[in-house]
Amino acid sequence: MINIVILISGNGSNLQAIIDACKNSNTTQAKLPVSIVAVISSNPDAYGLQRAREAGIHTEVLDHKQFENRQNFDLALQNLIDQFKPKLIVLAGFMRILTDDFVNHYLGHMMNIHPSLLPQFPGLNTHQQALDKGVKQHGASVHFVTPELDGGPIIIQAQVPVKENDSTQSLQARVLEQEHKIYPTAIRWFAENRLVLKNNAAHLDGCQLEQPKK
Ligand code: GAR
Repeated sequence: MINIVILISGNGSNLQAIIDACKNSNTTQAKLPVSIVAVISSNPDAYGLQRAREAGIHTEVLDHKQFENRQNFDLALQNLIDQFKPKLIVLAGFMRILTDDFVNHYLGHMMNIHPSLLPQFPGLNTHQQALDKGVKQHGASVHFVTPELDGGPIIIQAQVPVKENDSTQSLQARVLEQEHKIYPTAIRWFAENRLVLKNNAAHLDGCQLEQPKK
C-alpha cells in the first residue's frame, strides 16, 4: 500500500475512477493498493472536490489566482504536498503548467494523464485537434512527468476510433471511458513496484517500455 496525492482542477472523473478502483474488487482485479491521502485542487469550484469529500478523502484548495507567479504557486504546492509524504503524485485533470524545479522534485514519482495519443496533440483542445487533423484513431496516454510539457516517457495508452459524425463532446466521452481504465492500471503498476522511471525511460517489470514514434 502506498500513499498518493491527487491533483485536480475540474470535474474529477479520473479521480472518481481511482477512488472506485480503491474500493472495488472483482474476480479479475484486486483493490488498488493505494491510500489517497489528499486531493488538492487549484480551483475552489472543482466538482472533483465534492467527489473526494463524499469518499471521505482529505481535500485542500490552493487557488492559483491567489499567487503572484508560477514559482510561488509551485513552491506552496510542493510544501503542501510534502506534508502528506506521498510516494506518488497523480495529476488528474490538473490544468497547470509546472515549473522545472517542481517537476524535478518529484521526478519518477509523478504521473499525468493526457487526452491524446502522445506525442500527437500535446497541449489543450486535443479532441478538436484530432478532428481538425482528420485522424482515424485518437486516445489517451499516461506518462511520467518530466520538464518537457506532455513529453515524459509514456506508460500506457488506449486508442479509440474517430467516427465520421463525431463532435468534440462525443469523442471526449469515448476517450474518457478509456482514461478511467488506463489510469488505475498505471497507478497499480507503480504501487506494486513494477513500474519505475530509470535514465529518463519508463520500465515495467524490468523492461524498458517502447515509445511511439515521434
Ligand atoms: C481528462 O480528459 C484529462 O486527460 C485531461 O483533462 C480531463 C480531466 O477530466 N487532462 C489534460 O488535458 C492535462 N493536460 P476529469 O477532471 O473528469 O478527470
